[in-house]
Amino acid sequence: MEGTDEIVSSALSPAGPQAETIARLWWWMLGISGAVFLVVFALLVAALYLRRTNGRQAPPGGESVFILVGGVLVPLVILSGLLVYMIVSTARLVPEDADLTIQVRGYMWWWDVYYPDADVRIANELYLPVSSDARIELSSADVIHSFWVPSLAGKTDAIPGHTTIHWLRAERAGTYRGICAEFCGLQHANMSFRVVALPAEEFAAWLAERKEAIRARAAGGTENAHELFVRANCDSCHTVRGTSAAGTVGPDLTHVGSRLTLGSGTVPNNLGNLAGWIANPQAIKPGNLMPRAYLSPSELQRLTNYLATLR
Ligand code: CUA
Repeated sequence: MEGTDEIVSSALSPAGPQAETIARLWWWMLGISGAVFLVVFALLVAALYLRRTNGRQAPPGGESVFILVGGVLVPLVILSGLLVYMIVSTARLVPEDADLTIQVRGYMWWWDVYYPDADVRIANELYLPVSSDARIELSSADVIHSFWVPSLAGKTDAIPGHTTIHWLRAERAGTYRGICAEFCGLQHANMSFRVVALPAEEFAAWLAERKEAIRARAAGGTENAHELFVRANCDSCHTVRGTSAAGTVGPDLTHVGSRLTLGSGTVPNNLGNLAGWIANPQAIKPGNLMPRAYLSPSELQRLTNYLATLR
């Protein structure tokens, strides 16, 4: 499933009830405003034509009636109808109960994703069981970001010092693209993420695998390559659960090997890009907080291979 599926990213291709409600509202608004545009355009053409052939001619019922009906009554009916429809639709966007809670924190320029019940932390990816209402508790570590998965729901701002609630529900399994929808600095455009919706049992297995990986790592003792991780100072910013590394400045690397992308959607996650990122992260994503690691080619290779095993 990982990385192979087509990635859906369109508010007009909804895969959940919230995005469907929003898309339906959008289609109604497009249809109605399209019809209004055609009527106004037809009236304009008629006015030009009548003026040319018959000189000045009052519309049926007189000018003031025409203005009252066409300029006040009709817009009032259409806009009030849309307003009521919009209020009813928006009220339906919030489900009554959450099936699971996920905490998402925006950073310049990546996303921390934490499952409090399972105590699992990943970055820039959000795994979900299909047909479940996920309550997303959104916060920000620095500036205002905005969390948006166009195929699943509307956008919600992530605000420093405040928790906002966002709801996600996917009715179809698949990979959906999410983006930061609020300008937040140099790499705002490279602050995307993936939402992976899995059938319920696959999601449970995915969570269990992550927990088992941490347990096995803690039981297995420190690998040689992890000493390299510490020597290169990676541990002052990054956490690898099950080892001594517990930095909190950068993304948690406990499961970095299973990530679909690096740099929050900047490049695909493979050995070449991973080595390139460690050797010169500023070349791939200028302005991010990570300094380059000065390693010999063989050390770089060992460190890259080690990180790829963290799944
Ligand atoms: Cu974060 Cu734009």
